[in-house]
Amino acid sequence: MSFQVRAARPDDVMALVDLHRAVAAVPDGLARRPEEITRDYVERFLAGVSFVAVGPDGAIWGEIHAGRETVALFAHVLSNLTVAVHPDCQGLGIGSRLFEALIAHARAMDPPILRIELAAGAGNPGAIRLYERLGFKHEGRQVSRGRYPDGRLEDDILMGMLL
Ligand SMILES: CC(C)(COP(=O)(O)OP(=O)(O)OC[C@H]1O[C@@H](n2cnc3c(N)ncnc32)[C@H](O)[C@@H]1OP(=O)(O)O)[C@@H](O)C(=O)NCCC(=O)NCCS
Repeated sequence: MSFQVRAARPDDVMALVDLHRAVAAVPDGLARRPEEITRDYVERFLAGVSFVAVGPDGAIWGEIHAGRETVALFAHVLSNLTVAVHPDCQGLGIGSRLFEALIAHARAMDPPILRIELAAGAGNPGAIRLYERLGFKHEGRQVSRGRYPDGRLEDDILMGMLL
């Protein structure tokens, strides 16, 4: 399946609400539940760095975003990273290509970005394997950071990449 990666645009907002809700409906992936994915949430992340993967029909198959930290001490850091690929399109290389676009963009940002960071649920080994392959290093573990509706607790794995 062929797809193209481009910068997200403001008019992608409702397609991105639909995409993130579809991905969030599958357990153990995104932190947010479908009902927590709102237009306001998407508009806020579109104000940062966001790339989309688009299929031949123009449908958005995947999205990645992150934002520059606002406190001056941390302003060289891109954080709050989330990546989501539609459940029908996972494992096709879309997530990897979205990361490549984000990392290339980060390298060109001015003032410079020197670090990209993310967190992944310990119960998402596929995502963690992908991040390792992309060059992210394990930096720590937040014990019982996540709590699912059934009461199950999950650690968060902190990962970072220096540019
Ligand atoms: C994680 C995710 C972004 C990867 O994107 P992708 O397009 O599927 O990944 P790619 O095809 O570029 O790379 C394949 C690798 O991604 C990971 N991966 C593939 N499918 C996955 C899935 N359903 N869930 C988690 N990771 C997956 C695996 O490491 C895989 O490598 P492997 O084949 O050696 O196991 C995507 O699968 C996804 O959106 N998953 C659900 C949401 C999620 O987990 N987001 C990350 C939260 S930290």
